[in-house]
Amino acid sequence: MADKGFEQLTVLDHPLITHKMSILRSQETGCKKFRELVREITQLEVYEATRGLPTQPCEITTPLTTMRTRRLGDATPIIVPILRAGLGMVDGFFDLIPTSRVGFLGMYRNEETFQPVPYYEKLPGDLDVSPIFLLDPMLATGGSGSAAVSFIKEQGGRNIVFMCIVAARPGVEALLAAHPDVQIFAAEFDEELTPNAYITPGLGDAGDRLYGTL
Ligand code: PRP
Ligand code: URA
Repeated sequence: MADKGFEQLTVLDHPLITHKMSILRSQETGCKKFRELVREITQLEVYEATRGLPTQPCEITTPLTTMRTRRLGDATPIIVPILRAGLGMVDGFFDLIPTSRVGFLGMYRNEETFQPVPYYEKLPGDLDVSPIFLLDPMLATGGSGSAAVSFIKEQGGRNIVFMCIVAARPGVEALLAAHPDVQIFAAEFDEELTPNAYITPGLGDAGDRLYGTL
């Protein structure tokens, strides 16, 4: 696991991730395969990003005997995809934690100012008691991520993890400058943005590649 110099950042470092990311990033990869890979990469990332979830003791009976073990605590995770592209990560999270609850934040980036423009929100009411996992494949300038975290905090959310597929250095710096308490998980890390604030080498426009709106 690599942190690229940021204590709050975890970049997954695993041959399966590297392999899948090489296909995801390729311009040859079509929508169907792209969606499948985002889902699979999210599954692998969930495994790491949920390492801190609390568990509680329970007793079970195996075919041989009874034993005391542990299960996930009552506070089920809340996942919050940032629309649109964050939707692509929801099923990968559900695959591992099907009891997760889902809130939605609609936000797009103004392509001239690069500022996030919010257009929809629907969040569960008890944000203060559950771990919250914000989902968005791309952390570019960090504008959308920072605005999303600010909004969730205003609604009472405290324990927030930001999960993305590609994190760019400027985005990580901006998000952690605004919210140093947030943990960031990324499948891969790119150093730079283009003058149009796209992550490079990146993978292009994640929403367009997921939903065929190129
Ligand atoms: C993309 C991406 C992030 C944002 C990242 O969304 O999914 O939300 O840009 O850029 P930032 O870190 O510079 O804010 P986009 O605006 O393309 O909307 P979409 O998901 O609807 O395609
Ligand atoms: N949004 C994307 O979808 N891709 C980028 O590289 C930057 C923002």
